[in-house]
Amino acid sequence: MNTNKITIAIDGFSSTGKSTVAKQLAKHLGYIYVDSGAMYRAVTFYAMTNDFIDEDFFNVSGLISQLDDIKIRFVFNENLGFAEVYLNDTNIEREIRTLKVSGFVSKVAEISEVRSLLVKQQQQMGVNKGVVMDGRDIGTVVFTDAELKLFMTASAETRATRRFNELLERGDNVQYEDVLRNVEERDYIDTHREDSPLVMAEDAIKIDNSTLGIKAQFDIILDLVNKTLKKEKPSKK
Ligand code: DC
Repeated sequence: MNTNKITIAIDGFSSTGKSTVAKQLAKHLGYIYVDSGAMYRAVTFYAMTNDFIDEDFFNVSGLISQLDDIKIRFVFNENLGFAEVYLNDTNIEREIRTLKVSGFVSKVAEISEVRSLLVKQQQQMGVNKGVVMDGRDIGTVVFTDAELKLFMTASAETRATRRFNELLERGDNVQYEDVLRNVEERDYIDTHREDSPLVMAEDAIKIDNSTLGIKAQFDIILDLVNKTLKKEKPSKK
């Protein structure tokens, strides 16, 4: 049995390919992958379908009063090779990826009650280590003692182009300008909110992947993981 398991925290701006590399790492290492953004998206989807949020209103106290009713689970899908998000037993993996959910999610993620609930659940998921988690506050709040912290970044235009292509591929009818605006708006809200704003942890390693391909990025990060595992080994039991 491999007792030398570490925690890998991957933070960064939206659409910087965090989940792509996190999934690759989890598969390669046999670790659990947790997409923490999916949990904020699931709460947002709940808020939308229960009429707590729309373009012109946000009933924050209504949503907070029902947080206990929101049960989020990840269920591994063998065919897809990753875990899908379930909200109260309904698979909402597809529903949470729409531009509409992206438009509201940063507002929901600003609420401290939502954050503390989800952070507790995330910490529980990583209690035995062997986890790769991506998000905005994983290295700074959720796992401050993670052995490897990465901070992913790329230009807003590069990220909007990636996201735009993803949405087109799934058949969504979107305009590039709307996707770019959403990326920039979320950057602003995520970095300026009071509770757990997106900042790079002091001990994180920055990866700018504006000009890096997926394979090149994976190789660089896997090398960092292997170096971290080597460093950890002698000091462990
Ligand atoms: O990673 P993503 O784009 O799916 O995340 C959706 C939103 O959730 C993002 O705009 C900010 C928020 N989020 C957060 O505040 N903290 C996290 N750990 C993960 C996501």
